[in-house]
Amino acid sequence: MDKLDFPESPLQQITAPELDTAGVSLHIKRDDLLHPTIQGNKWRKLKYNLKAMAVENKRALVTFSGPFSNHLYATAMACKQFNIQGHAVIRGPQLDLNNPTIRMASACGMTLHAVSRKEYRLRNEPEYLAQLEQQFPDTFVIPEGGSNHFALAGCKELAQSLPDSDYVCCAVGSGGTLAGMLEGLAPDCQLLGIAVLKGAQYLRDDIQRLNPQASGRTNWQLLCDHHEGGYGKFSAPLWQFCQRMRRDHALPLEPIYTGKLMFALWQLVAQGYFPRGSRIIAIHSGGLQGLDGLRYRGLI
Ligand SMILES: Cc1ncc(COP(=O)(O)O)c(C=O)c1O
Repeated sequence: MDKLDFPESPLQQITAPELDTAGVSLHIKRDDLLHPTIQGNKWRKLKYNLKAMAVENKRALVTFSGPFSNHLYATAMACKQFNIQGHAVIRGPQLDLNNPTIRMASACGMTLHAVSRKEYRLRNEPEYLAQLEQQFPDTFVIPEGGSNHFALAGCKELAQSLPDSDYVCCAVGSGGTLAGMLEGLAPDCQLLGIAVLKGAQYLRDDIQRLNPQASGRTNWQLLCDHHEGGYGKFSAPLWQFCQRMRRDHALPLEPIYTGKLMFALWQLVAQGYFPRGSRIIAIHSGGLQGLDGLRYRGLI
């Protein structure tokens, strides 16, 4: 087995009266258990980036992230695991060395470069990237969140690992995970994305840009009304729901991505959105390290 091929993560069936009443079945693809430290969709996206990096014979990478980011955590862990020299350009202006994500990334040996918010906005600009290439010669560039062309292959693999179902549901931030998974699903399986940010309609175009095949497919949908106030925001009932899922179903969730997804799913099930007999799979895309950041900021 290639060192980048982790064994597949398990599927967990959820049984609950709400699901029985609606006549649907629900399994969770526990990608949070894919690897002890490199979790969820972040690994799915990194995998083929790291392969491309090896093909290009590069030993260092540079990426971009906010200070509490799941992508930063997973990339730092991957750099440590595979002995890669990692640089991260962090949205600053300062680095808070007590922030648990920053602490972990730094402990993994990643070099962290805090930049002003103004500079951070340039992260996808070709001139800025050219400047970074001078600063970090011979370094592989991975965009914020890891959503690029290489990421799609890993997300396609995730979809191909799933058993037959009628619906596959995932949380959507940049749309990379959905765009990639669409490639690996049977055309009669509906892919349902729950947008975690406000005003996310524009993501439909982003998804089609990331995966041009998406415009010809009718088996995907982006639901934009479950953002709970916007990115990073969550209500008390949503956080209570996350805690209830952990207690009653041994399903750990955080309220920014996977909690929002499951909370939305629970509401859709109650509304009769899914026809009776539907087999639903929800993707647990990881991100549990984010709980430490929320605790650190006193938000939970
Ligand atoms: C835990 C988790 N789930 C889902 C997503 C959304 O993935 P995407 O940006 O590919 O839509 C993210 C992205 O940041 C994430 O960290």
